Amino acid sequence: MARKFIAALADSSLFLREWLAHPQRTGAVAPSSPQLAAAMARWLPRDPESYVLELGPGTGAVTEALLKRGLRENRLVAIENNPALAKHLRKRFPQAHIIAGDAWQMDTLLAALPLPVPSVGAVISSLPLLNFSKEQADDLAAKIRALLEPRGRWVQYSYHLAKNRSRGADDFRLVASKIVWWNLPPARVHVFQK
Ligand SMILES: C[S@@+](CC[C@H](N)C(=O)[O-])C[C@H]1O[C@@H](n2cnc3c(N)ncnc32)[C@H](O)[C@@H]1O
Repeated sequence: MARKFIAALADSSLFLREWLAHPQRTGAVAPSSPQLAAAMARWLPRDPESYVLELGPGTGAVTEALLKRGLRENRLVAIENNPALAKHLRKRFPQAHIIAGDAWQMDTLLAALPLPVPSVGAVISSLPLLNFSKEQADDLAAKIRALLEPRGRWVQYSYHLAKNRSRGADDFRLVASKIVWWNLPPARVHVFQK
């Protein structure tokens, strides 16, 4: 219990440091709460062989919830563009495929893995899309769509509580949308299906 608390504290201080250095890119002052992470993780693919792609894993709050929910660590591919955070994640999740890179390059990054990953059952994204232009969000969504298996899901949270769509999601069907109040700040989880 004490060890878990100290690890959570260390993650929060690393996160805050990275936010101070790169506020736009980091997009939040603290890691997601366990409640928000659990609300994202409940949308894992049914097939346990499917890969899951996590975008913007930060210090691993959502990653931890995905594994707790039953995802095998070696079925997780995560793309984090902050090298300090990617290094931290590699230590924390040694069997996962942690890529230090740009989520917008997901197609080439996944194809370049030692065992290339041609498609994924779900994309779980914490990217701060409101800090990117509509064109960038559309570009990202098109790449997610191309990578998802048929009926695959894109799960995205946003701090824009009122909005029932997410940037870039015009070509997806909205299957669920829920506010998680217990987070700093509260967030809305959108689930889109291909
Ligand atoms: C709001 S934080 C979420 C962190 C974590 N998933 C959580 O919920 O606590 C967004 C994360 O996206 C990462 N990020 C921002 N732009 C990115 C990009 N182009 N490619 C990959 N990761 C990016 C940031 O470095 C940061 O770790």
